[in-house]
Amino acid sequence: MKPLTILGIETSCDETAAAVLRLDEAGPHVLSDVVLGQAAHHAPYRGVVPEIAARAHVEGLDGTIKAAMADAGMNFADLDGVAATAGPGLIGGVMVGLMAGKAISLAQNKPLIGVNHLEGHALSPRLAEGGATFPYLLLLVSGGHCQFISVLDVGVYRRLGSTIDDALGEAFDKLAKLLDLGFPGGPFVEKAAKNGDPKRFALPRPLLSREGCDFSFAGLKTACAREVATLGVLTDQDKADLCASFQAAVLDIITDRTRNAMRAFDMVWGAKGRLVAAGGVAANQAIRGRLEALAADRNYDFIAPPLKWCTDNAAMIALAGAERLRLGFSDDLSFPARPRWPLDEAAARLRPSHKPGRKGAKA
Ligand code: KG4
Ligand code: ZN
Repeated sequence: MKPLTILGIETSCDETAAAVLRLDEAGPHVLSDVVLGQAAHHAPYRGVVPEIAARAHVEGLDGTIKAAMADAGMNFADLDGVAATAGPGLIGGVMVGLMAGKAISLAQNKPLIGVNHLEGHALSPRLAEGGATFPYLLLLVSGGHCQFISVLDVGVYRRLGSTIDDALGEAFDKLAKLLDLGFPGGPFVEKAAKNGDPKRFALPRPLLSREGCDFSFAGLKTACAREVATLGVLTDQDKADLCASFQAAVLDIITDRTRNAMRAFDMVWGAKGRLVAAGGVAANQAIRGRLEALAADRNYDFIAPPLKWCTDNAAMIALAGAERLRLGFSDDLSFPARPRWPLDEAAARLRPSHKPGRKGAKA
């Protein structure tokens, strides 16, 4: 194949990111990878504020793209295409990144690829040297998403289950907000949980032992709020115990749901499986440890991509764009920004039918 060099742009949530990636016979090579985080902008509100995010993307994107091009030692003329996240995400931010991608595409006469952010996450385990080979079972757990996806090949994704209410990262963030721990909440809850008693609060485990592999966290979140209201004034130990009890409930839920997802995955693939965790919550050591044990139990390989590619980044967007372009797909300048865009639908746009012969294809 002809090597493809792609600029990726990611602005769908609270990271302004740009990366340059080359895809050749040997696989993807990340030539530069720049992420400008916005945590400081959102910390006073203890959550991502869409309008503030969009403005911060406007302010930071040009410099981020310039830095990514400079780090890769390239000019726009060296590119084979520009890939920008077109959704799903916070629409203001998505529009900023997609418009920048369209402008570069138009000015430089390079193909534009509108990328589904979830496809970026789905393919991100392949960014690392010796990264995941198809097929694999992906648990995507972030601030905005919580789902199991069978990643069978480029453009061939099957969602096995997803949250019916909150995303897991959102639940971590809401608990941290309730306890006034800091933002983003996940790392604070994880740290506090280390000094807490996981048995002190009897919290619910929604959907436990039910069929399928959907998630639900709203009831758990509400139960935490009730405990906080009952306690009134909270000591540091109260907070640690609540965090530990919350995390214990989360681990039970993840264990139960992952077992079902692996069963569903096995039914289709039979052979030795691979379990991959991605998204910001996959940074949680207790969750990683549990997933690793579950995988070992079922003779699966467990793959946790480097943390920088677990959270939002543009290298994964460049990879998804490069893979699309390699298959001959690009988009025109009317391609819309979409706040909602299910991955299965994005896959259907790329390749309507899956060829079973590609099962187990090498990375
Ligand atoms: O993937 P990500 O960077 O952005 C998107 O939401 O797309 O994920 C951020 C989420 C936040 O909700 C954050 O609280 C959570 O990941 N998170 C964690 C940990 N580190 C980040 N949750 C639990 N434990 C952690 N150590
Ligand atoms: Zn994401």
